[in-house]
Amino acid sequence: MQYEEFVSSLNDKQLLAVESPSQYLRIVAGAGSGKTRVLTYRISYLISQLKVQPWKIVAITFTNKVANEMKNRIVKIVPEASKDLTIRTFHSFAAYFLRQEIEVLGYPTNFTILDEEDQTKLVKDIAVSMGYKKNDPIVKKTINYIGYNKLHEKYPGDIKIIHEKFEDEKVCLEIFEEYENQKERQSALDFDDLLLKTNQILASYPLVQAKWRNRIDHILVDEFQDTNDTEYKMIKYLLKPSASLYVVGERG
Ligand SMILES: Nc1ncnc2c1ncn2[C@@H]1O[C@H](COP(=O)(O)OP(=O)(O)OP(=O)(O)O)[C@@H](O)[C@H]1O
Ligand SMILES: [Mg+2]
Repeated sequence: MQYEEFVSSLNDKQLLAVESPSQYLRIVAGAGSGKTRVLTYRISYLISQLKVQPWKIVAITFTNKVANEMKNRIVKIVPEASKDLTIRTFHSFAAYFLRQEIEVLGYPTNFTILDEEDQTKLVKDIAVSMGYKKNDPIVKKTINYIGYNKLHEKYPGDIKIIHEKFEDEKVCLEIFEEYENQKERQSALDFDDLLLKTNQILASYPLVQAKWRNRIDHILVDEFQDTNDTEYKMIKYLLKPSASLYVVGERG
């Protein structure tokens, strides 16, 4: 795509945002106002005008669908971008990272990923083995308990129950413990583990962190208002002082 056509595909404010020289930039705009378009053109601009190597860029989107659309669009604008672009969701990026780096934690790189259905089944099987009926409310309760704790970066070893915060918390913790044991035996990770293990490696293995920081010069994030603490930590681990962070989102 010629530069004139590139410029005419954006309104004045979008163009200003796309060509910003700032190292750190946060763009806040309303729903459907063209935020994802700005991110897409920003990546194209980095490659075609600033001559950034595509593999130096990591872009994070909220869904795999948007990631693919963005990639296809960029390749239309700058064909040379093609295969080396990393545009993924946080979870997909974490899986991609772990397929290369997880051996330091004692897992094989061909680990299995449990989706929500697999997770429910595993919790259900454990509850049944403890004598519960398979539709007992303890199943849902435990799944929420696991999710809540992982959101706060807690595994069973980090939890001590002196007084139960809710009825059956001790049972939930017991199932959570068995859930983690079984996952480990199967070399399996759930969705939350993908983020947590990635951060664990980046935090504890400076050489691995340095390798990834070294590679990445630009991190761009779509739907930034939905980024949680764990995901934001991941960005910080990956972002070296000279790298640029470019985020777009709605008012969160
Ligand atoms: N300058 C423009 N010229 C033509 N079409 C545009 C322009 N800006 C945005 N659009 C179109 O408007 C629609 C919404 O754009 P986009 O998806 O980038 O918005 P968004 O702010 O990311 O939306 P959401 O809030 O859903 O994430 C898209 O079809 C996009 O191609
Ligand atoms: Mg969007």
